Amino acid sequence: MKADEVLIAHHDVLRGLLRGLAETTGEQLGRREELRDRLLRELEIHTQIEDELFYPAVRDVSPLLSLAHAEHRQIDDQLATVMRTATDDPEFTTEVRMLEKTLRHHTMEEEQRIFPQSHALGEERLEELGAQLRQRQLELTRSGGMRLIVRLKRAALRLV
Ligand SMILES: [Fe+2]
Ligand SMILES: [Fe+2]
Repeated sequence: MKADEVLIAHHDVLRGLLRGLAETTGEQLGRREELRDRLLRELEIHTQIEDELFYPAVRDVSPLLSLAHAEHRQIDDQLATVMRTATDDPEFTTEVRMLEKTLRHHTMEEEQRIFPQSHALGEERLEELGAQLRQRQLELTRSGGMRLIVRLKRAALRLV
């Protein structure tokens, strides 16, 4: 899989989790907790593989990266708000929908503008980069370190 295909597949996971989370009701608190934790974990992994591997690789062919970095920070801030909002708070779904809107905008920007620009790297390089992204994604998914980071971050966000 090429780099952009790997990232689009992961965008689908993120969009699906956000849609699922936005559709939960105040009667499904266990499900909300579970989806929110999965979202935190997948978003951390996604941001990390893009910041570590994809964005540096496309730096010379995409002029949009500072905008993309700014959007990652915005997503992080909105995620923090979602983490700090109690799952039984009436505002919970509103906060989730705001994050969903920002994430949709950002992923569309990547898919419609940055990924097409990345094609300038050539098929071979995109395949190689895709393999690196998938491997790092798998490592982070399996790694106890990532689980610890997510747990600590979740605890920290709730204490703020
Ligand atoms: Fe991104
Ligand atoms: Fe992305």
